[in-house]
Amino acid sequence: MAQDDVFKKIVSHAKEYGFVFPSSEIYDGLSAVYDYGQNGVELKNNIKRYWWESMTLLHDNIVGIDSAIFMHPTIWKASGHVDAFNDPLIDNRDSKKRYRADVLIEDAIAKIDEKIEKEVAKARKRFGESFDEALYRQTNPRVAENVAKREALHQRFANAMNAGDLEELRQIIIDQEIVCPISGTKNWTEVRQFNLMFKTEMGSTADGAMTVYLRPETAQGIFVNYLNVQKTGRMRIPFGIAQIGKAFRNEIVARQFIFRMREFEQMEMQFFVRPGSEMEWFKHWKEWRLRWHKALGLGDRKYRYHDHEKLAHYANAATDIEFEMPFGFKEVEGIHSRTNFDLSQHEKFSSKKIQYFDPELNESYTPYVIETSIGVDRMFLSVLCSSYEEQELEGGDKRVVLHLPAALAPVKCAVLPLVKKDGLPEKAREIVDDLKFDFTTHYEEKDAIGRRYRRQDAIGTPFCITVDHQTLEDNTVTLRERDSMKQTRVAIADLHKLIHDQVSLNSLLRRI
Ligand code: GAP
Repeated sequence: MAQDDVFKKIVSHAKEYGFVFPSSEIYDGLSAVYDYGQNGVELKNNIKRYWWESMTLLHDNIVGIDSAIFMHPTIWKASGHVDAFNDPLIDNRDSKKRYRADVLIEDAIAKIDEKIEKEVAKARKRFGESFDEALYRQTNPRVAENVAKREALHQRFANAMNAGDLEELRQIIIDQEIVCPISGTKNWTEVRQFNLMFKTEMGSTADGAMTVYLRPETAQGIFVNYLNVQKTGRMRIPFGIAQIGKAFRNEIVARQFIFRMREFEQMEMQFFVRPGSEMEWFKHWKEWRLRWHKALGLGDRKYRYHDHEKLAHYANAATDIEFEMPFGFKEVEGIHSRTNFDLSQHEKFSSKKIQYFDPELNESYTPYVIETSIGVDRMFLSVLCSSYEEQELEGGDKRVVLHLPAALAPVKCAVLPLVKKDGLPEKAREIVDDLKFDFTTHYEEKDAIGRRYRRQDAIGTPFCITVDHQTLEDNTVTLRERDSMKQTRVAIADLHKLIHDQVSLNSLLRRI
């Protein structure tokens, strides 16, 4: 099945089974804004818990905060967001549609990549076992021509972006003969910079309202609380501050479902270190964060690093952790060495001394910062996409199953009386009443047992517990495992331990 079709199926599965709904749907939706349903919110909370506990429980030098979304507007001046948090935009005069100029060019580059890959795939099929892919890529004239075209375009694009040359971006669009997907014309306006922050007003207009911004990242809430936490927590460098919270960006190109949203959630940790030690810590966090991802067991080959060639003016190293989504490898997390830029800027703009006295060195300095920044929604999408499977079963039956990491699954176990009579529902309820204190437990008695299993598979429930007539005699049940569909007879008294061993966050944390 084409990856596009798989992705469409995942999006509709997410809606059908209460994971993600389009926002304001009964009013025809609100572009790039989504709501999480009854199963989605549980999965999302479990992802957040996994991240939070990995930071604050496993590290005695990392503490959390929860700062307000509204902050003093000067914070965004100091951080550079007011002046430089922009996307280059271009309008098509015929369709009146607005696009990100950089994305139009990236799409053109991706089209050349597709041509190259198609050519290689055709040759692989033609030559079979004896196919030498590296040699073919070097020697086939059509492939070589496209590779050269791609490299030249990529270089020109990178130069224009680095120089902030908006005219050159427009010229690339003209030269590449890029057309508007709606009108099909090349009738483009100039390229303009567009700030991504949402603005609103605080206070009544009569009092003189102040323009405030919805935060575009949670990190600044950490920087402006650095001194509060360091002093009240008596923190010694190196130490970290973690935060989970909403962020808002007026994204113009909103696509790929919850991958790029206007309201999303971030999990960020700023790690404050001694100047000069930042590269060592950057390496540490780069490796540690990848271990955190891999511990989920979604497949080690689905991750790769993407080191940034072009660094923001305040960074001296940056890398992304990319995950293989159905639409290619995409950024899920960024790890940045942000130098002392943010703290120094806040010191300058607030005129407050923001320093650390290092008792070992007997000197004060502005700490350097390593940041790990991951989007909750992108993490959610990567977990959902890699867990989704349509399976053909023996006997021609089919099922859709979500192989979610058990510790993240929204529902841990479902208790199902085989029939709705003979005291089986009552016995099943007794089991629920015991398990519900430790696990999210569902009770279901409607429909044939097979259909109930399928419904639980579709939301990724790791265990189904079936109560039958034998249960009334010997206090045993069948425990059905989601992935293997294997059923074993176990004592009710053993259920708690059997389930806990598989679904606890603790076991996931120990794997990092
Ligand atoms: N404080 C650094 C920072 O915000 P970023 O690379 O702009 O860095 C970090 O964002 C992470 O936030 C990204 O790796 C991504 O997972 C998530 N993210 C950014 N913009 C997003 C959007 N529009 N929708 C969903 N997630 C987004």
